[in-house]
Formats: sequence, structure tokens, C-alpha cells
Amino acid sequence: MSRLFIPLVTLLLTLSHSHAEIRQTSVWWLPRNVNMFGHEIDFIFYVILWITGITAVAVFSVMIYFIVKYRARPGVPAIHSHGNNTLEVIWTTIPVFIFLALAIYGNEQWTRMRLRTPPADALPVAVVGEQFGWNVRYPGPDGKLAKMTAAKVSKENPFGIDPQDPDGHDDFTTYGELVFPVGRPVRLYLSSKDVIHAFYVPEFRLYQDMVPGRVYDFVWFKAEATGYFQLACNQLCGQGHYKMFGKLSVVPEPEYEAWAKGKAPAATASSESSSTPVAVAGR
Ligand code: CUA
Repeated sequence: MSRLFIPLVTLLLTLSHSHAEIRQTSVWWLPRNVNMFGHEIDFIFYVILWITGITAVAVFSVMIYFIVKYRARPGVPAIHSHGNNTLEVIWTTIPVFIFLALAIYGNEQWTRMRLRTPPADALPVAVVGEQFGWNVRYPGPDGKLAKMTAAKVSKENPFGIDPQDPDGHDDFTTYGELVFPVGRPVRLYLSSKDVIHAFYVPEFRLYQDMVPGRVYDFVWFKAEATGYFQLACNQLCGQGHYKMFGKLSVVPEPEYEAWAKGKAPAATASSESSSTPVAVAGR
């Protein structure tokens, strides 16, 4: 049995990965960061890791030392301590300042990422999750997406748009395929058709739940490097959750323009997304 176990697991893993993008960067530590916001996120991650790491080592070292030093020995009377006010004040004050600093820094970064208006020149891209895939909508040559209304989202109209909306006539859609230009801000319009999904790209340090009945228009990022990544749904959304992934690539702007041109929509902008996978330029 044990001789079969390893080959069996390997086979299963191989099969289950056969249609997924393999993460190209480290799976043991943080994945590569390619988003402009990722530097501050990684910085605060490491600060917290060092603070908690040093604290853990210090606390356990003292504890082990005291356990050995003050162990019960025959003939040695126990020492009774009723605390030390100076020590109490010190070890309460220091964490208060550490937590305050982390909270202020985190709040400032969160404001920068999510609460300020995304840059006006950002490329708008709509992504609507469904069981189990991603409807993606890009603006055409006018650079504008049709307005999305959460109340209008339906099976036939995943983006909740008004078919008469002139901004939408040149939009084009893909299914599970996302291409972003490098160095240009991208503003996402996220929603869901059915249940809660989540837009998650580890290399972007970006995670946002997509709740049906809402359109999230405050998420934006700027990729600083090209590459191929996996968009993974990060909310357990049903039986097919494990395979709810999208192919995401960051390419130079001219390559993006060429790709977008090649996706030119049919004159009657259908709200139904195409499920035909089309190879990304340069792949
Ligand atoms: Cu969608 Cu998990």
C-alpha cells in the first residue's frame, strides 16, 4: 500500500494541475511582487514578522531559563513575588506604541490603496465572478466601459449593463483571460453573478471579495513587471471553486493594444461572454 501511495498522489497532483497555470515564483516563501502597492505590504509583513519573531524567541528563552533555574529542589524554599509595577508599565507601554505605529502605517497604506480615487488615466476593466469562472470586460477604443449596475446583473447580463449605453458598444469580453499593460494603472470593477467570489492575485498582493448585488469600483493597481500569473478565486464558492482560475498576463503596452485590437467586438455588443480561449500574443 505504502509503495503505491506516493505514485498515486503524484498522479493525482499531476492531473489536477494539468489545466492550471503553475506558479512561477517561490511556493515556499512570498511570491514575487509586481504591484506598486506590494512593496509597502511586504514591508509591513516583514516588520511584523521580525517583531513577533524576536518577541517569541525572547519570551520562550526566558521561560525555559526560569523553568530550569527555579525548578523545585529539595531544601530550597520557594520565592513569592507579587509583581513589579515598573516592569508592568514598561511591557505595557512598548506594545502600545508598536501597535499604534502598525495601525497608523497600515491605515495610511490602506487609504492609499483603496480609499483614494484611482488615477484618471487608469484602464477600466470589469471582472464578474460566477460559478466557476471569470467574465471579463474591457473598454474598446473609446477607453470607456459601459456603466455597471449591480441590480441589473443577471444570467444573460453578467455585467449589469444597459445595452443602449453608448460607452459599451465597443467593449469586448473574454472568459477567464486577463491581459494588463505594464506600468499603467488598472482600475477594476468587480462584482459577482451568483455567490461570493474573491479576486486574488498573490503577485499583486491583491485580494478583494466580490459580493453579488454590489459593484466594487475602488480596487486599482499598477503592475511594475511583465509576466504570467494566475487569478485564483479565494472564497469557497461551491464544488468547482478549486478550478476557478483565470489566466492573467502583464505585457508591454503595445502588446496589450495589439491584443485588444484583435478582440474587437462584433457590432452588436453581446453581453454574453465568449468562452473560446484565445492565445495571448507572445505566448
Ligand atoms: Cu469562486 Cu471560489
